[in-house]
Amino acid sequence: MLEGLAGVVPPRAVGNNELPAAWETDDAWVRRRTGIGVRHWVAPGVSTGDLALQAAVRALDVAAAAPPDGLDAVTPPPVDAVIVATSTPDRPMPAMAPQLAHRLGLGQVAAWDVAAACSGFVYALATAAGVIGAGIAHRVLVVAAEVYSTLIAPDDRGAGVVFADGAGAVVLRRGEHGEPGSILGFDLGSDGAGHELIEVPGGGALARSAPDRYTPADLHFRMRGRDVFQHAVTRMTLSSQVLLKNVGWSVDDVDRFVAHQANARILSAVADRIPLPAGRQIANIDRVGNTGAASIPLALADAAGNSRLHTGQRVLLTSFGAGLTWGSAALLWPHLAPVPSVHGVGGPVRSA
Ligand code: COA
Repeated sequence: MLEGLAGVVPPRAVGNNELPAAWETDDAWVRRRTGIGVRHWVAPGVSTGDLALQAAVRALDVAAAAPPDGLDAVTPPPVDAVIVATSTPDRPMPAMAPQLAHRLGLGQVAAWDVAAACSGFVYALATAAGVIGAGIAHRVLVVAAEVYSTLIAPDDRGAGVVFADGAGAVVLRRGEHGEPGSILGFDLGSDGAGHELIEVPGGGALARSAPDRYTPADLHFRMRGRDVFQHAVTRMTLSSQVLLKNVGWSVDDVDRFVAHQANARILSAVADRIPLPAGRQIANIDRVGNTGAASIPLALADAAGNSRLHTGQRVLLTSFGAGLTWGSAALLWPHLAPVPSVHGVGGPVRSA
């Protein structure tokens, strides 16, 4: 059951007219082709771990505001496990989650990372739900964070206009099936045949064992934008439809739909194809760009902060990312009340 939520973006907002001149792009093109008006990029020296920490602190504060069993909670509730979803870890090894747990003062809890690119949040949510369901943990902190701006090649205006930085965090705890906040089902999938459609070729064991085959440019995104676009539409549509069938919801039952914020045209195409009734989709890509794994919790925090999510609403999440990976989740919206946002985006919500 979901009991805490927060989203953060770094302070530096980059409008379309502030993008590098070498990209020879313009506000009209970027808005028309992607729906993005502004994205946030970190300042030099700020890492994925820094954004993850900010989101986690706020999500735990939020969770702490929900007194368990009617008691006043004065300290954050214990967390048994920490899962970080990212494809931009601060370093190849070790995983980010143990250090995050340490920085949060959570003690020697289980902590590990999940790498499923832009599907990472849904995969991490499924992992957390499984760990709770198996009785391994009672309360799990899930943090999704990306610093994608560091993966943009200086000459790549295709990826450059799309990708951005941000973090989102949720706290999950054991709960009763069907109560507000409960997650009713998941659909997860992958197709490694498409691993080259969107990748960062260098920086891994392959490049280290054959350095002559790689160049510094291979440390950046390489994306076949049009192919990725088509796969994203197809996979998020099919995964959503499969999950709706599995949980027994009709399209009319979906009160709110939150897809990975990849491109506004992708979002419209998916909603049309499922097909969802008008007015159910939540989107904030115009203000944040594509923040990878962080995009769904950021959109949720944004929507909750703007009172677009209400207790008990049926919410469908769907995502698609490099790998290729995709994943969807169906949940009942918990009882959360908004508190102020960070740099005008997201903002934590408090259990009320
Ligand atoms: N500004 C201006 N023109 C641009 C441009 C930019 N930022 N990026 C590409 N173009 C140009 C290209 O040079 C090309 O020009 P040409 O026809 O003269 O050769 C034209 O626009 C079409 O290029 P293409 O790459 O086919 O554009 P597109 O419409 O597919 O848009 C993306 C590019 C990246 C915005 C789009 O493919 C996309 O969003 N794909 C999905 C990306 C995504 O979601 N990735 C993450 C998934 S998790």
